[in-house]
Amino acid sequence: MRIIRDIEELKAARDGLQGSVGFVPTMGALHQGHLSLIKRAKNENDGVVVSIFVNPTQFLPGEDLEAYPRREEADRRICDVAGVDILFMPEASALYRRDEVRLKAPEYLGYILEGNRRPGHFDGVVQVVMKLFGLVRPTRAYFGRKDAQQLRIIEKMVEDLFVPVRIVPVDTVREEDGLALSSRNVYLGEEERRKALSIARSLKRASRLIMAGELESETIKRRMYAIMKEIDVEYVAIVDRDFRPLPKVEIQNTIILVAARVGKTRLIDNLWI
Ligand code: PAJ
Repeated sequence: MRIIRDIEELKAARDGLQGSVGFVPTMGALHQGHLSLIKRAKNENDGVVVSIFVNPTQFLPGEDLEAYPRREEADRRICDVAGVDILFMPEASALYRRDEVRLKAPEYLGYILEGNRRPGHFDGVVQVVMKLFGLVRPTRAYFGRKDAQQLRIIEKMVEDLFVPVRIVPVDTVREEDGLALSSRNVYLGEEERRKALSIARSLKRASRLIMAGELESETIKRRMYAIMKEIDVEYVAIVDRDFRPLPKVEIQNTIILVAARVGKTRLIDNLWI
């Protein structure tokens, strides 16, 4: 595996890859969720590129940019064992210029839910992902359904800007007890972790209600809030695949999203119906 920090070196290494290239952009502190994206990329492509970059432009002032977990040694080993060809770990100064061209997330999709709580967050995401796509020129790029809104925005970016890359969604990997894996889970104390489980439980309850024929969004939401009494829920949303609110669940076209604060840690999770 080649570990590359320099842009010119990356371009040369990319040119050296033959055939299809699978790309997995990450911010590191890799876990089984990231690994499932990497494995999928490995299965479906001749070469695999992973990037690790804690992207400053997608963090808002006061968010956890400085505290974000960094595990370079462990991350390198994980990528090496997984058979990654190129691990790209640039410095911010290599990727960003002064007064550069800026992309903007869509007015609707980029500024509701996560974008409403974190205004500008998705502008930073599309900016960095577009840069990385330009450098890596992947055949396919892998994104987790865990970050459903991010996934939809990246899909839309690729459609709207005619970027020749296939976006591949990957299912959320969970702990045995249901907690969705996240790099931010390391912030949780024991008691907080127990409380955080109510997010996955509320989604499970929603799924059971729907299977039993309950399709009214308001009813489902109310039942979900009741399960998450111990945590600070920011939103529960029931939307279609374009993130338009749905008064009634539509089978095969619904995503139920939750964002909540557990102590100081902000967690998101969702369920695709
Ligand atoms: P990061 O949070 O490191 O996530 C990298 C990728 O892993 C994303 O596509 C995310 O959806 C996926 N992922 C995270 N947890 C997962 C889980 N439990 N199961 C499956 N996939 C999971 O998302 C980002 O980084 C950044 O915004 C990035 C796209 C790299 C741009 O900076």
